[in-house]
Amino acid sequence: MPLVPTGQIVGANPVCAFNVITLEHAEAIVAGAEAAGRPVILQISENAVRFHGRRLAPIAAATRAVAGTAVVDVALHLDHVVSPDLWRQAPEHGFGSVMVDASRLPYEENVAATRTAAEFAQARGLWVEAELGTVGGKDGEPPPDPHAPGSRTDPAEAASYVARTGVDALAVAVGSAHAMTTRNAALDHSLIGRLRAAVAVPLVLHGSSGVPDEELHRAVRGGIAKVNVGTALNLAFTGSVRGNLAAEPALVDPRRYLAPAREAMAETVAHFCRLVAGELEP
Ligand code: G3H
Ligand code: ZN
Repeated sequence: MPLVPTGQIVGANPVCAFNVITLEHAEAIVAGAEAAGRPVILQISENAVRFHGRRLAPIAAATRAVAGTAVVDVALHLDHVVSPDLWRQAPEHGFGSVMVDASRLPYEENVAATRTAAEFAQARGLWVEAELGTVGGKDGEPPPDPHAPGSRTDPAEAASYVARTGVDALAVAVGSAHAMTTRNAALDHSLIGRLRAAVAVPLVLHGSSGVPDEELHRAVRGGIAKVNVGTALNLAFTGSVRGNLAAEPALVDPRRYLAPAREAMAETVAHFCRLVAGELEP
């Protein structure tokens, strides 16, 4: 099935976006979404591109090829892009959307950088996401203090930011953090409600691996439209590999431990897809 524009998937119903690092991630994400019968977004981050020798083409091509076999709707998203050199490559590699991450810049610089990227990408038919506030926890940095001024996204500032940048979706800081390996983040549901009321574009939750099922379920009902999940797949993958290698120390054929690891990721994908679709009561 051909790739579907990201805006078409996000606009319809709440949807999960999963991070692709290896070919097995892409295969597992498609398999899990098919098992759940849900549309899905495959996203490749700038960090993943760096891991692949700073080359976007090979991992983008592999992900597109896997997506092309899917029997559910799939969109392709370039995630957490800081470098203008990278977001400029998004259209030629088949991405339907890009997240421009200028969240570490001072506010006015964030607005200017995001506006420039959005104009470029939207002129080429791409959907653009940006972040305001500090989700934190990327690149091994400690999660931000949720009570620190500026950590959480301010609704009035969010409305002005969306108007000034022209972005199609907004990633918000509402209590989650990236790279959590425990699921105990507490979300600020009142803030999600106020952001939903203040901002017309879809809201995106980053760092969803650390958010318990009940909290995610409530966040989606409260107005979160796109749920980004990465670390939960890596937990499933690495846990499976570690267990199989420990159980069979003589094992050398990677297919023998990658196949169950891929299956473990697919089960995680199916769980998040069903949860976000409201098909699982936590
Ligand atoms: O953009 C990607 C996500 O925010 C993934 O975060 O790895 O903490 O689930 P996570
Ligand atoms: Zn993120």
